[in-house]
Amino acid sequence: MTSLALRDKKLLWHPFTQEKKAQPPLAICRGEGSYVYDDTGKAYLDLISSWWVNLHGHAHPAIAKKIYEQALTLEHVLFAGCTHEPAVQLCERLQAILPKALTRFFFSDDGSTCVEVALKMAYQYWHNQGQRRPLFISFDGGYHGDTVGAMSVGAHSGYHDVFKDFFFKSLSLPYPDTWDGDATVEEKEQAALKALDALLEQHDKISALLVEPLVQGASGMRMCRPSFLKAVVERVRAHKILVIFDEVMTGFGRTGTTFALEQVGCVPDFLCLSKGLTGGFMPLALTVTTADVYNAFLSDSWDQAFFHGHSYTANPLACAAALASLDLLQATSTQNAIRAIHQAHKEGLALLLTGNAPIVHTRLRGTIAAFELTQPHQVRQQLIQNGLLIRPLDDTLYILPPYSTTPEELLGAYRSIQHILTQASRGTEKKLAFRVKV
Ligand SMILES: Cc1ncc(COP(=O)(O)O)c(C=O)c1O
Repeated sequence: MTSLALRDKKLLWHPFTQEKKAQPPLAICRGEGSYVYDDTGKAYLDLISSWWVNLHGHAHPAIAKKIYEQALTLEHVLFAGCTHEPAVQLCERLQAILPKALTRFFFSDDGSTCVEVALKMAYQYWHNQGQRRPLFISFDGGYHGDTVGAMSVGAHSGYHDVFKDFFFKSLSLPYPDTWDGDATVEEKEQAALKALDALLEQHDKISALLVEPLVQGASGMRMCRPSFLKAVVERVRAHKILVIFDEVMTGFGRTGTTFALEQVGCVPDFLCLSKGLTGGFMPLALTVTTADVYNAFLSDSWDQAFFHGHSYTANPLACAAALASLDLLQATSTQNAIRAIHQAHKEGLALLLTGNAPIVHTRLRGTIAAFELTQPHQVRQQLIQNGLLIRPLDDTLYILPPYSTTPEELLGAYRSIQHILTQASRGTEKKLAFRVKV
């Protein structure tokens, strides 16, 4: 174990980690482009964008420079009663690329808090109009963060079972996840729509529907068809229920369009953004909503105001990072890179399939590719040893790289994965044969 990892082991407690069984953490000293480097100088190709936050590669000088300049100008000021240029400019820039109806921007700090804000706003929207609507609809497998509200609507993700005593009630819908060549997709979608119709029939106190559009991240990059989501949105809208799109993971190009909502063809009442918002440099989040929602909070009474805020709300350094990241995202070279990554994924998945890697259910949306391993393997260590930073979700292996990743790097990674999986499956066969003999 390296000394940094040893020092860490003495003091630190890592997220989503069973510390008793955990391997020593990778001691990462620096990052450049699509790679991070450990304290021995070994390079790891970051194929998961560091928990899906990094867009343009690590330590990107253009973003670093803007943060530095902003730090010398204004590092922070409270956002209740004050404003500043980077916050306003960021919202102006985002408004220009979002659907016209999304005109109000509320800052918070991370994916969980921007979802929490959307839930509270949706609830209070009805409350301010004299309606009590304590219910939300969300999908099985949906993950929306770790704060109590976000856990309540993510109750069926399997991540938060310990805390279920705290949850408010959320109604869950089956999620028709699909993959290449899935012959059962229509059937699953029809079943989900039928379940939705039944919920809408039974309950009249629903504030909002919450969904990760097109790709459920944490439950294993589970993908659904845009036409299905459109049908869901139309149905709930007909019942005057608000719609929240959680694009914390899918936003900023991940699904091939700047936002997944473009492919769904619907404008939600709330859009939750974080992760890629700052290009992966600083924590920052936005809940974007409509004039209709905003207006429902305008009143002579304080009780109708939205009482929510965090100390670091709209931090100027984070806003400066987000502006720099947006410049990079809109560059033609980045848009080309997003298309090239999609194409390289296609070729990579084909390589795995033709090479008979032990996988099923390949799927691809924009820059996100995923598949299931048919035999449970502890492949993560082998991937790491081979210089690939990947963090499988149970039996799902997914690749969601920064846009700085070249097709050659990506295809090289697929070749390594093919090799590792094929070797691992041979190992399993041998072990099984041995066990049978005994
Ligand atoms: C779709 C989605 N929403 C919300 C969150 C929570 O974000 P954070 O971890 O920044 O609180 C995540 C995190 O993975 C996510 O994928």
